Amino acid sequence: MTDVSTQFELMVISGSASLQETLATLDSVALISVPTTARALSLLDGDWLPGAVYVEDTLRGTLDDVWAIVRAAMRRQVRVVVNLQGRGAGRASEFQAAGATVIDARTPDAVADQVSKALGTRRRAHSEAIMVAVTAVKGGVGKTLLTAMLAEGLRQRGVSVLVIDNDISNSGIRPTFRIPSTAPTYTGLLGDGLGMAAWTPERLRSCIYQHRESGLDFLLGPEEMVEAIHDLDSKNFYAFLHAVRQLSGYQVLLFDTSPEIVRRPAPYIVGREGGWLVLPAPPSRKERTGVLNLLRALRHNPGDDLTGRTLLVGMEPERGVVSSLSTALPLFAREAPSARLLGTLVHDPRTVSLADAGEQGYRSPLTVVPHGRFARSVHDIVDALAHEIGLTTPLAKPRSTLLDRLFRARPVAPAGVAMDGRKVAA
Ligand SMILES: Nc1ncnc2c1ncn2[C@@H]1O[C@H](COP(=O)(O)OP(=O)(O)O)[C@@H](O)[C@H]1O
Ligand SMILES: [Mg+2]
Repeated sequence: MTDVSTQFELMVISGSASLQETLATLDSVALISVPTTARALSLLDGDWLPGAVYVEDTLRGTLDDVWAIVRAAMRRQVRVVVNLQGRGAGRASEFQAAGATVIDARTPDAVADQVSKALGTRRRAHSEAIMVAVTAVKGGVGKTLLTAMLAEGLRQRGVSVLVIDNDISNSGIRPTFRIPSTAPTYTGLLGDGLGMAAWTPERLRSCIYQHRESGLDFLLGPEEMVEAIHDLDSKNFYAFLHAVRQLSGYQVLLFDTSPEIVRRPAPYIVGREGGWLVLPAPPSRKERTGVLNLLRALRHNPGDDLTGRTLLVGMEPERGVVSSLSTALPLFAREAPSARLLGTLVHDPRTVSLADAGEQGYRSPLTVVPHGRFARSVHDIVDALAHEIGLTTPLAKPRSTLLDRLFRARPVAPAGVAMDGRKVAA
């Protein structure tokens, strides 16, 4: 058993999202998830190598695939942990003789326990997830789009993100991610007559919607306009937030919030509880007044100036608008000197509508035009966010999209530089 003191990469060959989530609780381990055996083999044949490989025999395909991975890993002197649950059950000694570490774990939790033991690392008791609330007092300023782009940008860097749709009067998250109306809602728990007892991590976990296309998890509000009974007042929101924070496996809890901040003060609560506030900041007069009002309110929050936890994103105005960010930003800075600027989100209705218009289900603006100005502005903002909130991301800014990298013929390192700072060949 080797002691793993610095962060290293674990290549996980498994299609299970809940397994990834649970493995994310391993200390000092960055997960590189690889969806197919072929892709894993080509990576193990390339210049970049992971610190260890996890593979299971319950994949589609044959036991030969598992053997191929074990042999490839052994050839490159990469440790490999094999979970034998299906076709390989009863053949542990053969795998051990080949040099693999064999485990027998049925649930994601058991896998994480046994893998952490095999690698000599530990599991975090539960995630100290960083909370980020995207907030504005006006609708239509780009809150939901920004939330979606931050979530995907973080996810593409290997961060496990739970997106919480808190704009329950008017969900923008559902149409943005094309989430079907059959997806569960957490507000549904309020209708069950449980009162505050609704808010337990177990109950919330049963409401999590896993979005395959993006790899993001969601806690969704109702699809239609909320009825009063399903609304979350601040007492309910506190209890809800407490339960959400007990869900393990997430590094970031990202909230899309309601502009009706007086009735639904979720952003204040997230701020008071130590989270971060991200404010889309458009320059034109009406919108900018909203931003200034919100900054003032955050600065005078009783007991705690929340502007020190406030991060602005300049929203580039559409073509033809003469108000400019260069005029507006100094006004914001004067109102809230301790707020920080993450960058400017490029206004790109073409890319956004291309993603939106696709008939083949969900497509992200980040993958529709991966190298465009819009995607680049998103990635710069995501990097700045990670830096400000003190989040170390397992992967660096994608030079192209995640899908590109996973399916490109020539394997490349997930980042130009490995976690321990050592340069890896690309
Ligand atoms: N940077 C941008 N580029 C292109 N379209 C944008 C941009 N920001 C916002 N939009 C569009 O403006 C509309 C309102 O944005 P949305 O994110 O729904 O706002 P909110 O959640 O604040 O109500 C959406 O159609 C969105 O796609
Ligand atoms: Mg919205």
